Amino acid sequence: MHTGISCIIRSLVSAAICIGLIGGAPGFAEAQPGPNTAQAQPGLRVASPDGRNTVVVDVREGNLYYSLQRDGRSIILPSRLGFQFRGARALGDSLRLVNSTRNTVDNTWTQPWGEVARVRDHHNELRVEVVETVAPARRFYVAFRAFNDGVAFRYELPAQPALGEFVIIEELTQFTFADDARAWWIPSNVPRLDRSEMLYASSPVSVIDSIQTPLTMETRDGKTFIVVHEANLVDYARMNLAGRPSENRTLRAALAPLAGGDKVRARTPFNTPWRTIQLADRAVDLAPSVLGLNLNPPNVLPDVSWIKPMKYVGIWWGMHIGTMTWSSGPKHGATTANTKRYIDFAAANGIGGVLVEGWNTGWDGDWIQNRNAFSFTQAYPDYDLRGLAAYAKQKGVKLIAHNETSGGIQNYERQMEEAFALYQSLGIDAIKSGYVTDTTAEGHSHHSQFMVNHYRKVIETAAKYRIMLDVHEPIHDTGERRTYPNMMSREGARGQEYNAWGGEGGNPPEHETILFFTRMLAGPMDFTPGVFDILIERGTGRPRRPDESRIRTTVAKQLALYVVLYSPLQMAADLPENYERQPAFQFIRDVAVDWDETRVLEGRIGDYVVVARKARNSPEWFLGAITDEEGRSFDIPLSFLPPGTSYVAEVYADGPNAHWLTNPLPVSISRATVNAGTRLRVTLAPGGGQAVRIRPVR
Ligand code: NOJ
Ligand code: CA
Repeated sequence: MHTGISCIIRSLVSAAICIGLIGGAPGFAEAQPGPNTAQAQPGLRVASPDGRNTVVVDVREGNLYYSLQRDGRSIILPSRLGFQFRGARALGDSLRLVNSTRNTVDNTWTQPWGEVARVRDHHNELRVEVVETVAPARRFYVAFRAFNDGVAFRYELPAQPALGEFVIIEELTQFTFADDARAWWIPSNVPRLDRSEMLYASSPVSVIDSIQTPLTMETRDGKTFIVVHEANLVDYARMNLAGRPSENRTLRAALAPLAGGDKVRARTPFNTPWRTIQLADRAVDLAPSVLGLNLNPPNVLPDVSWIKPMKYVGIWWGMHIGTMTWSSGPKHGATTANTKRYIDFAAANGIGGVLVEGWNTGWDGDWIQNRNAFSFTQAYPDYDLRGLAAYAKQKGVKLIAHNETSGGIQNYERQMEEAFALYQSLGIDAIKSGYVTDTTAEGHSHHSQFMVNHYRKVIETAAKYRIMLDVHEPIHDTGERRTYPNMMSREGARGQEYNAWGGEGGNPPEHETILFFTRMLAGPMDFTPGVFDILIERGTGRPRRPDESRIRTTVAKQLALYVVLYSPLQMAADLPENYERQPAFQFIRDVAVDWDETRVLEGRIGDYVVVARKARNSPEWFLGAITDEEGRSFDIPLSFLPPGTSYVAEVYADGPNAHWLTNPLPVSISRATVNAGTRLRVTLAPGGGQAVRIRPVR
């Protein structure tokens, strides 16, 4: 073990031992104690505007470290920064701080769509300049930003003779947590990394060996919630985190590799993505998370009027439950007649879009192996591409084109311009894309710099042709939607599809109560809620047994997910016939998909969450409450409503004796007059939920 590291670990027990060993670096200003900091430490510091979050930057024995405190309590102990390069000395062990600059920003900006309309970016920045003490004296900066809701840092490598083109083989960034906090996590070293579609585990952070971000943690005293993630991932590899049993509570940046093992190939000037550490006192304060958005550049699209959140139905669930196929043949889902039926259904129910999967040639045979066979312009003969586009237009419905690539990146990029131009000419302004594969044809990791650049190219090309994106098997969301608001939604977690065919019998009842506090903190998710046929009985003709894959929620919980799991493209996933004569479908017709405000009213990670959201440019509010396998009740004060106005609450609750396993279908629909003084009694069945529309009395 490196002596510097062991010194730091020992310093957990006795902070004084290490600090005593550290000499002051020349040219480096003495830190001022922050308002709530018990004792001055060597190093430079920057505090959040409210003074609660403080980052300290320091060089010890030539190594660069940062640490993080909240209210004077350690959150991250001194943790290393730096890089290892191919063919050049590491940048990390012969360093000194030579200079620093400071800046304060307080801006409020408006999102064209989102969980909230207005976002405040209020932070203090400290930018330190670091130089090698040995030849070739390379120089770089680390910028730290301290916000009230967390901190972030990134490396900035300026152009210089000794650092032009470079290959990163390891980013040395570490996160040494002061507390053996409880973490909710999915691994990053198992097959099927393409999907991030695992079930979450929960454990002390010290036992984790590989993990994806966002990584959410709760300190053992329950006083602090910590989320590690990244922001503005551009021309770089996605960051996972890795731990070693010998490095108690230290997680290191583990970048997804290119073929051959290099992590990043680039040239200066170059900035890395931001490494973000969100902080909150309560789980409910984690969402909606805007830290990452504030670290992305502002919108670059001159006109965003064509970008519109919407609900959609699709030729999709049938393939997953086995009643339709993507490929040609007697069960082909994407036929002209079937698509018309979906368009008619959408038009009749005020649903904006119709997704069609399996419309394009390439699905016959093993579509995962045959990735270069996909055409993105040529329709199967039983799908009338132009006729259906015209039909949808006449009905006021948007078709959503599906582009499954199976990771055939070159095949997709070759066709992309032509395909997007075709879609635009047909009035198709949304695409759902897919990347079912762990590695690309070239052998790059699904989350490598190569793929990050590919996804960015798709976003930019789509913007050029005025196309909105919903990406499945994506790179994780790092806030791209601020710069490119056509990057709407993505999957990147275990969604509803696993209830059709996944192992373990489908997603367990607690799943969505974990997603809300983990994956959803990164950005919107195309979870595809709204399956009413819980036992997947209609169409397949036989109810699924309890040990088979099926929906492990009540119907009322499926409704609540529209409010809880945010997506600007929100699917009504079930077959249209399963919505017929279902009074509960009215909620799906009514629920908004774009919000002015979001309030998380109750929540415990993995147990339950209650969210209220105000519809964008509308006086209506929607409330969604979900629980795990335990039934629960809440008294929810409706004090978020403006005083003096009467509202009608349309309540979709779990019916009598509802239970996700034994009685998932009953939904009780009722109405009540409410106002800002009302306490709404919310009762959830085991595995249940409640959805409420709150509209002004007309
Ligand atoms: C996986 C996606 O998540 C799913 O929605 C899609 O239907 C299939 N891939 C086929 O592209
Ligand atoms: Ca998927």
